[in-house]
Amino acid sequence: MTILFYSKFVNSKEWKRNIKKKFNNKKIISIYDKNKFDKVDIAIVWNLPNNILNKLPNLKIIFSLGAGVDHILKLNDYNGTPIVRIKDPLMGELMYYYVLSQILNFQIGINEYKLAQSKKLWRKEILPALSKDLTIGILGFGFLGSVVGKFLARNNYKIIGYKKTKLKKEKIKMYYNKQLPTFIKSSDILVNILPNTKDTVNFVNSKFLKLMKKKSLLISIGRGSTVNETDLFKYLKKNKLFYASLDVFKNEPLSKKNPLWSLPNINITPHVASITVMNSAIDLIYKRYSRYISTKKIKSDVNLSKGY
Ligand code: OXD
Repeated sequence: MTILFYSKFVNSKEWKRNIKKKFNNKKIISIYDKNKFDKVDIAIVWNLPNNILNKLPNLKIIFSLGAGVDHILKLNDYNGTPIVRIKDPLMGELMYYYVLSQILNFQIGINEYKLAQSKKLWRKEILPALSKDLTIGILGFGFLGSVVGKFLARNNYKIIGYKKTKLKKEKIKMYYNKQLPTFIKSSDILVNILPNTKDTVNFVNSKFLKLMKKKSLLISIGRGSTVNETDLFKYLKKNKLFYASLDVFKNEPLSKKNPLWSLPNINITPHVASITVMNSAIDLIYKRYSRYISTKKIKSDVNLSKGY
């Protein structure tokens, strides 16, 4: 049987080489090898184009090359084939590096010093907050959120989490469903890791932002669809003490015309808060594949009614 591999990662060739090695030289094809599509039993993909899946009659599993699966669910020919996502603590650790860098930046006032530097200004000192006095709220406390929270807690921050429904007891203080306003008001800094579902579209809107502390930071690293960018732009423009670190956007790449680029109280990165760690991801994919081969059973990681 054969693997269909598709991604536009900078190191795609290396991915292919390492997958081949791990899968004992199993054949790997691309979306251009149409005459071999009937041999494909697994697809390992990131941002696959439409109308490929429906040409793979023997496809058994789709492996997402990242934590998110919305790039598969949105395909017009996705027909319910089981999906396996990367659930790698190392990706959570990378996400933590990103989050910590933004928190420290805000806490110390690096953006303001940068602004002063651009004007060659030896500005007055900014008094940093101590970590023990800062509460970090993690909005969307799933697999990655819990890894990020665990690492942040080691730095003395107080961590709280929000989730729509309670599935299990967590080690930190959690807020559920209608407790959202209390959760927002209790956070000094908010980390948005919400997935893209029909319930999370524009979740962070002007009503949400108004509940946040006036001097605060919003770090958004889940999905861009969860933030109302127009509301956020207006809010940032009006509230100079409010900062945003945005890694995900409604439309990526972010258009040059988007006014968010030019605000001084915003940091923009190109969807890099958590990059898939190649060899560890390949090990995880191979493990799930081997289990499927020995049991002939595969449980999808995606709950289609929840949409993630
Ligand atoms: C994602 C990822 O799902 O980077 O965004 O893995």
